[in-house]
Amino acid sequence: MCGIVGYVGKKDCTKVLLDSLSKLEYRGYDSAGIAVFENDAIKTKKTKGRLADLEEKLKREGWLNGTCGIGHTRWATHGEPSDINSHPHGNANISIVHNGIIENYRTIKDFLLKKGYVFESQTDTETVAKLLDYYYEGDPMATIQKVLAEIEGSYALGIIFKDFPRRIYAVRKDSPLIVAVGEDEAFIASDVPAILKYTKNYYLLDENEIAVLDDGKVEFFDVHGMPVEKEMLVADFDMEAAEKGGYAHFMLKEIHEQPTAIKTTITPRIVDGMPNLEECGLTYDRLKGYNNIFVVACGTAMHAGLVGKYVLEKIGRVPVTVDMASEFRYRDPIIAKGDLVILVSQSGETADTLAALRMAKERGAETLSIVNVKGSSIARESDMVLYTHAGPEISVASTKAYIVQLSVFYLLSFAIAYAHGAISKEECMRLTAELQNVPNMLEVVLKTPDNCQYVASQLVNKENLLYIGRGLDYALSMEGSLKLKEISYIHSESYAAGELKHGTISLVTNNMPVIAVATQRELLDKTISNVKEVKARGAYVVLVTHGYINVDDEVADYKIGLPTIDDLLMPMLTVVPLQLIAYYTSVLRGNDVDKPRNLAKSVTVE
Ligand code: F6R
Repeated sequence: MCGIVGYVGKKDCTKVLLDSLSKLEYRGYDSAGIAVFENDAIKTKKTKGRLADLEEKLKREGWLNGTCGIGHTRWATHGEPSDINSHPHGNANISIVHNGIIENYRTIKDFLLKKGYVFESQTDTETVAKLLDYYYEGDPMATIQKVLAEIEGSYALGIIFKDFPRRIYAVRKDSPLIVAVGEDEAFIASDVPAILKYTKNYYLLDENEIAVLDDGKVEFFDVHGMPVEKEMLVADFDMEAAEKGGYAHFMLKEIHEQPTAIKTTITPRIVDGMPNLEECGLTYDRLKGYNNIFVVACGTAMHAGLVGKYVLEKIGRVPVTVDMASEFRYRDPIIAKGDLVILVSQSGETADTLAALRMAKERGAETLSIVNVKGSSIARESDMVLYTHAGPEISVASTKAYIVQLSVFYLLSFAIAYAHGAISKEECMRLTAELQNVPNMLEVVLKTPDNCQYVASQLVNKENLLYIGRGLDYALSMEGSLKLKEISYIHSESYAAGELKHGTISLVTNNMPVIAVATQRELLDKTISNVKEVKARGAYVVLVTHGYINVDDEVADYKIGLPTIDDLLMPMLTVVPLQLIAYYTSVLRGNDVDKPRNLAKSVTVE
């Protein structure tokens, strides 16, 4: 949801900004721009379109030559994607890049209009640029403080002042921002991959802290202008993790990284064959005390929570409510003191999930987050955090983050089930050992992508599709359906197989392919009956099930067979063909797989 960068050092700033923005393009890609000090004057180039369009424009109209500047890649919120709405915004004296939403921009704009300011864009950001200009009397820090006191909403801002051509100011609230330092150079960026080519050393900016970057020197101040000491962090992954590494797309690379991501996430959390989550204070004693659990998240992360619910309730016998964060925060949920609210988020910055976390805390719940990005807002603000170790996920469509979220839910469910006495220690160890087997089995599944390629070739010209399943297969197929629609643009829905005949089956014709997921063997006969119902109405059926289960042509047109593990864990294997079907369908349709239209990786607005 918009990426911002800034550089001050000795290198060709335009080159550094473009390079860093290329690592953030997953955050937004409808326009891009930079502002660079050239001979002590602020020069701006921006354009609607991709970063490549900006680079083209710079080559055509003249490179900006300088060593200090700011840059932006946009995901439009206020105002359509256009040259004029692109960032940076400002004038000859002040220029800013912004990620987030200024909620009271209307009020500020009305005030500034009365003061004679003329606005050229439809963005909320321009009001901040103009408000800075209004207050500026030669002291950037005092100006920023005044502006912070007036703006409401979420923001990560990079700001330059003409009077200080070797300086970048940065501040954030509810939008991510890091400040990085290299040798004689300093950076700001929305995310760590943007700076990895230059340095691994960075600081996390706290809410409303102001950073001042001056060549290799970085200073931090609180909102009152008092100096703040901060701990420097070192990124625990390198450039390679943020590169495609020979794969055609990040999504394909990330699908293939899943076995390793699972191992890295679960191995340190298994001690003597038992789940061990004590790193965040989740002892078995504490787990025993939770009798009511909420899982709150958005999109794919919420789908991981749905699988978690089925598993936790099935073996732990603890009631679990799963909510979309955008609904949870406004539905006045009944949360009691001592309930456990689990927030799931890859980015750790999703606005709705963050708001849900804050609400849960206010109401006295204990909060646990399952987060991939270290030091992100959700991780920092929750009472307990279990990090997933997927490494950076660059493709907008989430794959490896989902599977590691599942793996944490499995560990948590086994631990809670054991703590509540719902399963024996032996059963807990057996299930944990099965989970440890998943990475090897996934390697096998990943070796035969051709069946998914074939299915994609059958789907490529369709406009609608249904996923059906029962129980865990239903929970999982929601993710399969989301993956397909977000990157192939084929409309798809996931339906509980038993629910079809209550309305939706009227949609089924020979133009409505159905992907039936049937790995839960106790429900197999029932699901197969539902599959026969859609087949009888002309649907082209792909059945995803255990490899050893034979189906005849009357049941399905094509079968994708999977290796067998405990049915409870089958979602960990089944998700892979669903991800690959979505991937190959998107490729065959000629779509931009890693950057699907209208989407952004990190949704820091409501
Ligand atoms: C879909 C996808 C989104 C995210 C959702 C939540 O592939 O990635 O649905 O899962 O926007 O994002 P996080 O996990 O960062 O909170």
